[in-house]
Amino acid sequence: MNIIISDTEKALDRKAADEIANHIRRHPATVLGLATGGTPVGMYKELIRLHKDSDLDFSRITTFNLDEYIGIDHDHPCSYHAYMDENLFDHVNISKENINIPDGATDSPEKECESFEEKIKEVGGIDVQVLGIGHNGHIGFNEPGTPFESTTSVVELTQSTKEANSRYFDSIDDVPTHAISMGIKTIMHAKKILLIAKGEDKAEIMEKALFGPITPEVPASVLQLHPNVTVFVDKEAGSKF
Ligand code: F6R
Repeated sequence: MNIIISDTEKALDRKAADEIANHIRRHPATVLGLATGGTPVGMYKELIRLHKDSDLDFSRITTFNLDEYIGIDHDHPCSYHAYMDENLFDHVNISKENINIPDGATDSPEKECESFEEKIKEVGGIDVQVLGIGHNGHIGFNEPGTPFESTTSVVELTQSTKEANSRYFDSIDDVPTHAISMGIKTIMHAKKILLIAKGEDKAEIMEKALFGPITPEVPASVLQLHPNVTVFVDKEAGSKF
């Protein structure tokens, strides 16, 4: 595991974006796995800057997002569809038909999970998967206890995840109870994984995930078994290493 500790959040955003940009420059048809949440916003800003200032070309890339809430429309401001448009897709030259985000507004979430897995297989798998980490160690919305063999499925959010994400909603009662999440096995099949964490509040779980026992109780600990993981942390999130 390659661990990169940056002095500032800005430096971390740049390094993570450069890693992705260099991959896209070498492989213009890269399949990218993407995360939402607060952590990657600055990295996406940096990718947009690289697109505008140095012609970083997204026209041939394909993307798969990790997750989406069930029961809210794509145009709901808290949906991950809306998040991705606002934070990346509306500002780069990606082809809309190459964007894949689980459809949480569907009538048949189980079928949606199957077709999402199918689509990943059809394009030959994910080349570079970006991950954030929850305070409880979740990756995607794979909460503690999720089997490492899980594929894309309907998941129930824990109270702590709902509390953490309630900052985007009017109240915690508005946070959806379920989501569609890429599975742990699906994530582990990505050829390369970039795990990003920022802030003091992520220090303890990052230490557990990278150096503690490998257990479904800390879903991110499975990454210790992946052959190609680069971890980007600021000095606060890396303070317990
Ligand atoms: C987001 C996702 C989640 C987040 C995690 C951290 O698509 O899958 O696992 O990466 O909850 O969220 P932030 O970055 O808001 O702390």
